[in-house]
Amino acid sequence: MKGLITAGGSGTRLRPITHTSAKQLVPIANKPILFYGIEDMVAAGIDEIGIVIGDTGDEIRAAAGDGSRWGIEITYLPQEAPLGLAHCVLIAREFLGDEDFVMYLGDNMLESGIAELVDVFEGARDPSRSPRPGEEVTAPVAQILLHEVDDPTQMGVAAFDSKGNIGRLVEKPRDPPSNLALVGIYLFDATIHEAVRAIKPSGRGELEITDAIQWLIDEGHSVRHEVLEGWWIDTGKKDPLLDCNRLVLEKIEPRVDGAVDEGSQLDGRVVIEAGAQIVGSTVRGPAIIGERTKVINSYIGPFTSIYHDCSISDSEVEHSVVLEQSTIAGIRRVVDSLVGRQVEVRHSEAKPKALRLELGDHSRVEVG
Ligand code: TTP
Repeated sequence: MKGLITAGGSGTRLRPITHTSAKQLVPIANKPILFYGIEDMVAAGIDEIGIVIGDTGDEIRAAAGDGSRWGIEITYLPQEAPLGLAHCVLIAREFLGDEDFVMYLGDNMLESGIAELVDVFEGARDPSRSPRPGEEVTAPVAQILLHEVDDPTQMGVAAFDSKGNIGRLVEKPRDPPSNLALVGIYLFDATIHEAVRAIKPSGRGELEITDAIQWLIDEGHSVRHEVLEGWWIDTGKKDPLLDCNRLVLEKIEPRVDGAVDEGSQLDGRVVIEAGAQIVGSTVRGPAIIGERTKVINSYIGPFTSIYHDCSISDSEVEHSVVLEQSTIAGIRRVVDSLVGRQVEVRHSEAKPKALRLELGDHSRVEVG
């Protein structure tokens, strides 16, 4: 079994961060989102992973390297433009060969990992297996993952036939046939290569993976499904990304590798990474402070990740993710925020007393 991770795309929903960098490298609990997907695959026994890259390919290559740090081999698959998820499969043909593979959207995260899903799919495809009474004997060519959602109208949704099998996948239905949405993790055998060649681009000009799966169903192939327990998050927008950061931080093991002075206090699950300095401050977990970051006379509240080489002084930051080399000085208080790289947010005594902004395209500021 091989792995295919899609880490190209345009990332319009996470602007302005994605104007300059890859959304798949935004850190969740100070680890790039992409690495969670890679590690899920490694835990499932996959040691050859292809990563589809686009405009931000150099940055992704620099971050994940050749895979040796995980004891695996990574092959990069440049995609000329974000022409759709089924297009990712099309360009990965040579890398994938005829092997079964897991496809994982590079900005998605799962609580449960994928090892069990891979086992179930391989089990269902095992020709020596004796089927249970009444069970379908045709080996599945694909397995999709579904998750119960409150509002299915903005997602790909499954419709079932009278036997409880997947009959149809409907994109953004006005009248949803179920509340089970398609999660960005799929298992395929080589039949998918026929499907991605057979389908035509959708109204938005992309080769859609849902159309390719629908093609498999329409051609009479068996597509099985699993309903996911535990959380799944598409981190492609700010608020889900902050939710995901919260969920991962809730499970971190506290550890102090940096320096915490006597005037400081750490409460609950807190990680202080190597070289970080906490001076005269309170850090209330779950929270993580990155390598070489300085927190001075400040309060860091729950569900906050401050990445490496940042400086937080005379400020309060809570339920936020701050990327590397950023400065927050004299600000009370920052909440529910995603702060990019090398950003400066400072208090100023300059007159007139006013906001002075230098923001990139598509930035958003809420002044309370
Ligand atoms: P999406 O989040 O569906 O698409 P996007 O990245 O273009 O984002 P937005 O809707 O905000 O503009 O993509 C899911 C993942 O797949 C993400 O990691 C990007 C990646 N991807 C590709 O690698 N190639 C593609 O052609 C597409 C559409 C997505």
